[in-house]
Amino acid sequence: MTVLDIIEKKKTKQELTNEEICYFVNGFTSGEIADYQASALLMAILLNGMTDQETYNLTMAMLNSGDVVDMSALGGCVVDKHSTGGIGDSTTLALAPILACCGVYVAKMSGRGLGFTGGTIDKLESIPDFDTALSEQEFFDVVKRVGCAVIGQTANLAPADKKIYALRDVTGTVNSIPLICSSVMSKKLASGSDTILLDVKYGSGAFMPTPESALELAQKMVAIGTLAGKRIGALITDMQQPLSDHIGNSLEIIGIIDVLRGKKNRLYNEIKEVAVRLLALTGKYDLVTAEKAFQQAIDSGSALTKFAEMVQAQHGNAEYIYNPGKFRLGTIDAVTASCDGYVTEMIAADIGRAVTHLGGGRMTKADVIDFSVGVVMKVAIGDKVKKGDVLAQIYHNGKGLEEAKSLIKNAITIGNKQPAEHKIAYAYVDKNGVKMY
Ligand code: URA
Repeated sequence: MTVLDIIEKKKTKQELTNEEICYFVNGFTSGEIADYQASALLMAILLNGMTDQETYNLTMAMLNSGDVVDMSALGGCVVDKHSTGGIGDSTTLALAPILACCGVYVAKMSGRGLGFTGGTIDKLESIPDFDTALSEQEFFDVVKRVGCAVIGQTANLAPADKKIYALRDVTGTVNSIPLICSSVMSKKLASGSDTILLDVKYGSGAFMPTPESALELAQKMVAIGTLAGKRIGALITDMQQPLSDHIGNSLEIIGIIDVLRGKKNRLYNEIKEVAVRLLALTGKYDLVTAEKAFQQAIDSGSALTKFAEMVQAQHGNAEYIYNPGKFRLGTIDAVTASCDGYVTEMIAADIGRAVTHLGGGRMTKADVIDFSVGVVMKVAIGDKVKKGDVLAQIYHNGKGLEEAKSLIKNAITIGNKQPAEHKIAYAYVDKNGVKMY
């Protein structure tokens, strides 16, 4: 067998065998298969797709390229959630302490920012001294003691995904259902949780453009997780506008503290939906008792205290959690409305790109992030605005200000007609089928 035979087969729309898929994954991970050949195969997969069996085999080959974490010694339910990525998506940061307050363990390995999307690990590192690289033993100890911990993906968790993803990012092969499915599921099956909630995003700030394509991806991921013996469900949610009104690293921590203090906004509603579904999936709760437990965790203040506990356990300065005014932020500028009307549309990805221009994300792997910059949205889709109203505040340190202003201005459409309400969730899917919202 040669990699050329495999490329040829996929180019001519034939189904790859498990041996061929393992040959590719193992050969590319070990460095025997060159980037240019792997790129050709990835593009053939993007264009010609994969059968469910091929997607399953690809997931398993990527999973088996590294370690599988064993969390069974915790002796309780270990939950995980994964978002396919978006703008202002800081849900994990609030979910971890909320779920820990509800009596389940959260042992979360997260990623850094990718393309126009922000990364949970970068956001956490904006808290002074926060350590996202705990040893495996320390990670386990914090989860056992506090109930939750969030670290970066360890080097040997699905290393095939790490290499393949880096190549997809620069070869235009990210938005392929079998490639996203195998990438997400290889990591989720390796990370030691027994219950998984996937948050599959659609819209201008997501990799899936439409709710239908996001649902298709969700169904495939749920089928693979179920086959692998996990309790798994997926929510299909809206990413047509930033999820949090705070976008940027320190700003998103401030947005999360607002939610943990009980502020009711789009982010709060999404966090609630994910938490309730995840708690119900564990079998310890039904939808009604899960919602009560969620509310209790917020209203009692225990979720905020738990967040501070997690920050302290991971060597971070917890004073920032109780006093978010301590975060250093850039100078404020503003983008204003050029006419009266309603906000009818947003290009969420361009708002993410604006934050990258300000220095809040990476253009190259080597870039150092400026945690103090970002954007605070003052409007959402459907809002009525008058000429001169502030649409967004920009926190900057000089770098990229003009590009950011122009991106944000062009990303927000103001029209005459109020658009229909944008619901947070479009559908939920688990082994019992699809529930439309
Ligand atoms: N998130 C992942 O982990 N992988 C993908 O391919 C896309 C989003």
